[in-house]
Amino acid sequence: MKTVQFREVIAFAFLLVGQAAFSQEKLPQLGHAPVGEIVKKMTLEEKASVIAGTGMRFQGHGTVIGEADGRVPGAAGNTMSLTRFGIPGTVLSDGPAGVRIDPFHKGDSSKSYYATAWPVGTLLASSWDTSLVKKVGIGFGNEIKEYGVDVILAPGMNIQRNPLNGRNFEYFSEDPYVSGYMAAAMVNGIQSNGVGTSIKHFAANNQESNRNSVSAIISERALREIYLRGFEIAVRRAQPMTVMSSYNKINGTYTSESNDLLTKILREEWGFKGMVMTDWFGGHDPVAQMKAGNDLLEPGTPRQQQAIIDAVKNGTLDVKVLDQNVERVLTYILKTPSFKKYNYSNLPDLKAHAALARKAAADGMVLLKNNNAALPLNKGLKVALFGIASYKTITGGTGSGEVNVAYVVSIEDGLSHTGYTPDQGLKSKYDAQIQDDLKAHPKKMLTLGTPRLVPELDLNANDIQKAAEQNDVAILTISRNAGEGADRKVADFNLSDAEKVQVKTIADAFHAKSKKLIIVLNIGGVIETVSWKDNADAILLAWQPGLEAGNSVADVLSGSVNPSGKLAQTFPVKYEDVPSAKSFPGTPVDRPAESIYNEGIYVGYRYFNTFGVKTAYPFGYGLSYTKFAYSNLKLSSPVFGKKLAASITITNTGKVAGKEVVELYVSAPHVSLDKPSEELKAFGKTGLLKPGQSQTLTLTLNPKDLASFNTSASAWIANAGKYVVKIGASSEDIKLSKPFSLVKSITVEKVHKALVPQVAIDELKK
Ligand code: BGC
Repeated sequence: MKTVQFREVIAFAFLLVGQAAFSQEKLPQLGHAPVGEIVKKMTLEEKASVIAGTGMRFQGHGTVIGEADGRVPGAAGNTMSLTRFGIPGTVLSDGPAGVRIDPFHKGDSSKSYYATAWPVGTLLASSWDTSLVKKVGIGFGNEIKEYGVDVILAPGMNIQRNPLNGRNFEYFSEDPYVSGYMAAAMVNGIQSNGVGTSIKHFAANNQESNRNSVSAIISERALREIYLRGFEIAVRRAQPMTVMSSYNKINGTYTSESNDLLTKILREEWGFKGMVMTDWFGGHDPVAQMKAGNDLLEPGTPRQQQAIIDAVKNGTLDVKVLDQNVERVLTYILKTPSFKKYNYSNLPDLKAHAALARKAAADGMVLLKNNNAALPLNKGLKVALFGIASYKTITGGTGSGEVNVAYVVSIEDGLSHTGYTPDQGLKSKYDAQIQDDLKAHPKKMLTLGTPRLVPELDLNANDIQKAAEQNDVAILTISRNAGEGADRKVADFNLSDAEKVQVKTIADAFHAKSKKLIIVLNIGGVIETVSWKDNADAILLAWQPGLEAGNSVADVLSGSVNPSGKLAQTFPVKYEDVPSAKSFPGTPVDRPAESIYNEGIYVGYRYFNTFGVKTAYPFGYGLSYTKFAYSNLKLSSPVFGKKLAASITITNTGKVAGKEVVELYVSAPHVSLDKPSEELKAFGKTGLLKPGQSQTLTLTLNPKDLASFNTSASAWIANAGKYVVKIGASSEDIKLSKPFSLVKSITVEKVHKALVPQVAIDELKK
């Protein structure tokens, strides 16, 4: 009896294997058959599984980790595999400042998987150097690939509408042109490795307060010119493999459910060819998401899959729509290293990447003040180093934009490596404070909300006095940190009373001995500077510079790198001067349902310049250890034809080699629409010019650079009239200008009527 049963089982097994082989043969395989053929053979359940990721599990101490096939622990999510069609799973990982994966694998502590913490987006933008950002992208992309990741959930490129947005550090600028060009450079660099990017968060995710459901109420013009323009530039110039829709609504509709945004604008107008994915658990209605063109739901839930299946069955979702979403996911998978079975090493060249991070960070730091050539500092000096972040330097912000790093070079380490001698008494006090704090508050893997900082040491006047006697110079680091899940408060924008007292006490003690105070800002977002800046001899805005932080700071302070960064956002005199200060983060304030962007197009310098509001440091501003002369501005023609080229000669008239960022602004004629007094339309950066050396840069204007979005015509129109090219060292420091004219108005582009606000917006007008 037993034998018979066994034989039967064997026979049945053969039958099954035979059938499987037979059906396998007949089934189209990804890469061998057109994706449409594969989709035709899929069951409805299989289709529903392809458009949803495989979910997330929650680990200890509040950490959320994507399943990612278990291949890359710590990755944020993945796509589903379907072996009968030869479809592999793919891996999606955060984030904008480096690959956010677990540094160790369970049961294997012999090997680590640390990643490079690159300088944050805000710092990279401050370099105004797209070729440098592309280089960072190339290194970053190699690391993504060698750690087995298919798509990096980056770059972040929302507009820095308000300084309090907790995620500003992940983003580039208040200006869409800078944001778009930086993002394009990063995407092109990363994707040159054959891995993908996901530009995010599309769009108008300009705050963390109630980010999951707040509705950003924005005029069509402000959307087109400010909040979408950077994404448009990035899509047109770099074709990111994927786009991540945002959590928020725009004018009442979740972005992930907006056909206007994801289909009409992104695909039909801009020609986006890739796949759109949600932000994690973003949006509300999976069926509406499919219809909108949001192809992939991340991290994916069984409930979403079921909703799709039900909707197809009850006729509320046309299966053709779903088929198209599935096709887009499959087309994406075809491009990935996972599909190509790339044999990743888990051994990226971390040393080379650290060297690149160090260089990029130094190139994006901004010298805000340098009275009487306080900087650079002679080597060998004894330095009284103040501020927690001098010893525990902040590499980047928190949340999904944080990176697990093997080490951080603190400012103290960097100065020591460079031949300075930090005061040991101060060091031991600060080290003790940091150690005590670490014991009381061990580091968590992923923190959402306002991050905790080690409290500043409350040094007394005697300690400071002693330090002034024993050292040659004071360096004080002022720090801030923020991240996903919470916006900053005005109190975080301002320095506390204690901080201000400390700045003044240190300044007085050192100045009394004719010694200088250098202030380093280790911050991820804009802060108030006017109330204390007079106390400092020099201020270096170091931003959050990544893992080589201290080396980069020391490179600049010592003069081995001449600072060449400029601000990609305005530093206002006070928070209340920011045009969105009254409406941010919306109403009701504790959990805003609505955020009305009534400053319209007047974001950042567009506001400060047009309305003549004084700034602390304007957009585009940054000093150097040398000086530059601007001369010989020439336009290719006094009349705009199809294009117009402006050339300008920059000469290093100082004593040390340096690089200069050149900004091209355009003033447009006021015909029918309100216009900012000037808008950035092109920029360039010289190479390293030796003293006396010149370089001529040529910057080009296209018709769209002259156009404004005309809402009633749903078109980008460049009005006939007199324009002015203004070449500036900052938005407030215009060195040379020249007029040109446009004889006949041009309708540059006619677009869809889309994303129309349903409520009246009382928009700011000049
Ligand atoms: C963030 C995204 C991130 C995703 C995956 C979300 O909470 O908003 O930026 O890529 O999580 O970690």
